[in-house]
Amino acid sequence: MAQDSYTEFVNTGVGKKITKALGLPQPAKLRRYTPDAPLIPGPVVLLGASEASDILARRLLGWGLDVRRHIGPKEKVAAVVALFDTAATPAQLSETVLAVGGLLKQLKASARVITVFRDPAHTEDPAVRAARKGVEGLTRSLAHEMRAGSTANGIVLHEELDIASPSVAGALRFLLSGRSAFVSGQFITVDSVNGALPEDWAAPLAGQVAVVTGAARGIGAAIARTLHRDGARVIAVDIPAAGEQLAAVANEVAGTALQLDITDDDAGEQILSHADQYYGRLDIVVHNAGITRDKLLANMDSARWDSVIAVNIESQLRMNRALLKSDLFNRPEGTVGPRIVSLASTSGIAGNRGQSNYAASKAGVIGMVSASSAQLQARHGTINAVAPGFIETEMTAKMPFATREVARRLNSLNQGGRPEDVAETIAYLASPAAAGTSGLTLRVCGQNLVGA
Ligand code: NAI
Repeated sequence: MAQDSYTEFVNTGVGKKITKALGLPQPAKLRRYTPDAPLIPGPVVLLGASEASDILARRLLGWGLDVRRHIGPKEKVAAVVALFDTAATPAQLSETVLAVGGLLKQLKASARVITVFRDPAHTEDPAVRAARKGVEGLTRSLAHEMRAGSTANGIVLHEELDIASPSVAGALRFLLSGRSAFVSGQFITVDSVNGALPEDWAAPLAGQVAVVTGAARGIGAAIARTLHRDGARVIAVDIPAAGEQLAAVANEVAGTALQLDITDDDAGEQILSHADQYYGRLDIVVHNAGITRDKLLANMDSARWDSVIAVNIESQLRMNRALLKSDLFNRPEGTVGPRIVSLASTSGIAGNRGQSNYAASKAGVIGMVSASSAQLQARHGTINAVAPGFIETEMTAKMPFATREVARRLNSLNQGGRPEDVAETIAYLASPAAAGTSGLTLRVCGQNLVGA
């Protein structure tokens, strides 16, 4: 993996002094998840008076957290959860927003601010929608203002959704935890009451079987490791040319390797038959394999265009059709349903010079997941995408120094993400606790300054 030696330097005593004096960016060491670390290292302040606030307080107390409604001016705060679920006009936001503002100087490093509100799209009332959109706007702006590895994100609730739903708890826990270290300025939409909270939060995927494509290296290998750590048995898929690296990853995660080109017509069937033969079940499919063949459109040739579309989106559409036809990838009502998580990219949201083929394929992934949600719902499952921003991998290590330095600092956390950060978000979306979220594309980009 590429070394971000600047971040290492800033986080030494002398480095901090020099870079601060020069007015240079201050990337913090992010609080990342480890199974034995506390969920959140300090008090959580709950703001906003509504019935929902008592429900969330009980949930947080149930997790052993130090929950407060008020906090002394000298105490440090690890998280703020601000409830706006009853906001009916923009003028009503003021009290809670200003209370959040009053706490920002007391935040610990890698703190969390989480806003909770109802979906703006679910009301036709102009004032109510304005208030809800207002919460979106303030959450995004706040994320830009956060310091020292802290983040701000929102949970968007379906109009009718009971806030006591397991999926609300799942989203809240993900955003509080170190799993969401590189997620900022984003929104998790919770649409249905589905979901089951795991008996053991350190092994939320216990008993499940997951396929990861492109698992021989980079982000795919990190996904395989993370799903394994969370209790899943893993089938690692990659092309035959990557066979040696693939076998090493499969061994490391005590899983099985399947050498396969995902553009094969029967790739989906081959995955299903491997899963059936070795495990007798298939619960999670992560479409991670992807390629870039960058060229300005004026110089684009059919080989570059067609190969990117074939690997990054057509193969996924074909494999999903096979999966959805199969009984192995189906579940009876009342049980945890199957999961598909695809890799999109911030290029698919904002576009990127020289990447018309790649951006078309990744925007295609975003379209595919939103359109496939109903089909998965019929099987009590979900389909979502994750859109990484700048991630420190072999691919980005090859970028010219200056371009890489600019790209990795151009986000609210002033640093690139790690493959594990993408993997943590995928593991969350694959977990039973995320059953109420489907059709979503969640960015893992440190709030990249490109795009929305
Ligand atoms: P990578 O190039 O390091 O790894 C991709 C893996 O996919 C390789 O092992 C490759 O052999 C495999 N693969 C390629 N074509 C295949 C095929 N036809 N059949 C089976 N396997 C195939 O890429 P990286 O950086 O780990 O990216 C993983 C995913 O994340 C890709 O979908 C990429 O587009 C996406 N992504 C990566 C970002 C980054 O900053 N690295 C940013 C945004 C998205």
